[in-house]
Amino acid sequence: MIATLCKEIPADKRIMVTFGGGSVKNNGVYDQVKEALKGYFTVEFWGIEPNPSIETLRKAIALGKENKIDFLLAVGGGSVIDGTKLISAGLLYDGDAWDLVVSQKPIEHTIPLATVLTLPATGSEMNNGAVISRHETKEKYPFFSNFPLFSILDPEVTFTLPPYQVACGLADTFVHVMEQYLTLPGQNRLMDRWAEGILQTIIEVAPKIKENQHDYQLMADFMLSATMALNGFIAMGVPQDWATHMIGHELTALHGLTHGHTLAIILPATLRVMKDAKGDKLVQYGERVWGIVSGTREERIDQAIVCTEKFFRSLGLKTRLHEESVSKDTIAEIEKRLRERNVHLGENGDVTADTVHLILESAF
Ligand code: NZQ
Ligand code: ZN
Repeated sequence: MIATLCKEIPADKRIMVTFGGGSVKNNGVYDQVKEALKGYFTVEFWGIEPNPSIETLRKAIALGKENKIDFLLAVGGGSVIDGTKLISAGLLYDGDAWDLVVSQKPIEHTIPLATVLTLPATGSEMNNGAVISRHETKEKYPFFSNFPLFSILDPEVTFTLPPYQVACGLADTFVHVMEQYLTLPGQNRLMDRWAEGILQTIIEVAPKIKENQHDYQLMADFMLSATMALNGFIAMGVPQDWATHMIGHELTALHGLTHGHTLAIILPATLRVMKDAKGDKLVQYGERVWGIVSGTREERIDQAIVCTEKFFRSLGLKTRLHEESVSKDTIAEIEKRLRERNVHLGENGDVTADTVHLILESAF
């Protein structure tokens, strides 16, 4: 599919191709992209790091402006794609691109963007979200901009992923579904079943992928699940949570922990702390996803949460903060930051800084 790039991008475009740290040079993706874009005007920008930073992206924007770029092709994981979404808006903005992230205003003017995805996880290849970090102040915020015009998803490119990134990608996918599903029951029967289908698919393929990451069909199922988990589809007609993600972003910003891993630690704790509000949905989730049909209501709820944490551990991820050397000071700092921002997270807007404190203590 990568070879079809030249059919999708008009011949007169001035393309900037963006990359991460170089994994694409080891798995043949770079060569394929280069071959497909023979004959185009191209400029390459390398070095968009995991958790893309404004400091790096400013350089890309400057390079793009200098070369009068009018098309962007992101080749990499969620970080390269997210970073390129900011470049896409930044190229048509006169001020500092960080303004675009913090203003939270809808972005109106963007340069067209396409992607070649190399890591299934974020859904960034089919959504309009991006998460940008600022190293200077250790901040990390989501912002919303343009959707990619198209994305190429070739499961073969995932064969070279480090197992830790696969684990984090599976966890991220799982939690994206949970943020849109594990809220209130009875909101939308069809979306519930789609969500449960994605969760079950991830649970089914995860141990098999651990055994053989070079199985095309398994990686294809994982890749499509990750896209379907956060392309807006299962969000239709349902309330959304996202508290776990907002806390996770702080953990990455302050401690550097990989995104999917923060979620594997925070989600079980969020469920434990919010189990009264989420109880009815937890019973449904336990029954339909984990087959928990016996015991009292309380036991079924607890069992569903235990299964969730065990699943993350089965991926090879630690699920407690102390196991990743996150200190109580970091917990206090996250609580302080979220108190200053006066957050009201979760589907009911009742996850305040005090609740975040309980969640982090429970995750410790
Ligand atoms: O930089 P390179 O050398 O390419 O290496 C990357 C990077 O080190 C490597 N990698 C990617 N594809 C590979 C590969 N290595 C070997 N073979 C391949 N095929 O993997 C490492 C991690 O890449 P990264 O792009 O950071 O991972 P991911 O896709 O998980 O993206 C994480 C970022 O996305 C944000 C996260 O907060 C984080 O900043 N998110 C974006 C969302 C969105 N746009 O909607 C939603 C998510 O919830 C998430 O917050
Ligand atoms: Zn995520």
